[in-house]
Amino acid sequence: MLFRRACGHFATGVAIAATLDSSGNPHGLTINSFTSVSLTPPLILICIDYRAAVLAHFQSATHFGLSFLSALQQDLSNRFALKPDCRFEGTEWKPGATGVPLMVGCLASLECRVDRTIDAGDHMILLAEVEAAELEGGQPLLYYSGRYGRCS
Ligand SMILES: Cc1cc2nc3c(=O)[nH]c(=O)nc-3n(C[C@H](O)[C@H](O)[C@H](O)COP(=O)(O)O)c2cc1C
Repeated sequence: MLFRRACGHFATGVAIAATLDSSGNPHGLTINSFTSVSLTPPLILICIDYRAAVLAHFQSATHFGLSFLSALQQDLSNRFALKPDCRFEGTEWKPGATGVPLMVGCLASLECRVDRTIDAGDHMILLAEVEAAELEGGQPLLYYSGRYGRCS
């Protein structure tokens, strides 16, 4: 579809969005729909496809974490987009101050409290307030026109 291909020509970074279920198990997916919305208060949004199996965990969560991936973490992006389950098995992650799962070695991370959800066509928008942030730095993983890229 032309609309989809045109949107793909907007280059983005890549992040893992992750949350915990009521038993404390981590669930997450690869996203590039992150947008920073407001500085005061600090608001961000992500969009999750209603068909995503992990969506139910985000719908029942008060908080989620965002880990912005580095150019060295393309394998994590593929894993969290393609692997059907046990995505965290064998990966390095840690709980943030709010308990949300954060990937180790990422460029930066945000811990977000869900402010509201908005129905938007075939995706759900999660608008969230950032409660904690961490910065490590490095080279970003980029996504453009259906392919990964790096800054040269
Ligand atoms: C680079 C990249 C960006 C993606 N961005 C999103 C996104 O913003 N929202 C979304 O719902 N899915 C996005 N996806 C697709 C999901 O990662 C994928 O459909 C999801 O992991 C499905 O898993 P599940 O059905 O097991 O939950 C993206 C995939 C890739 C590779």
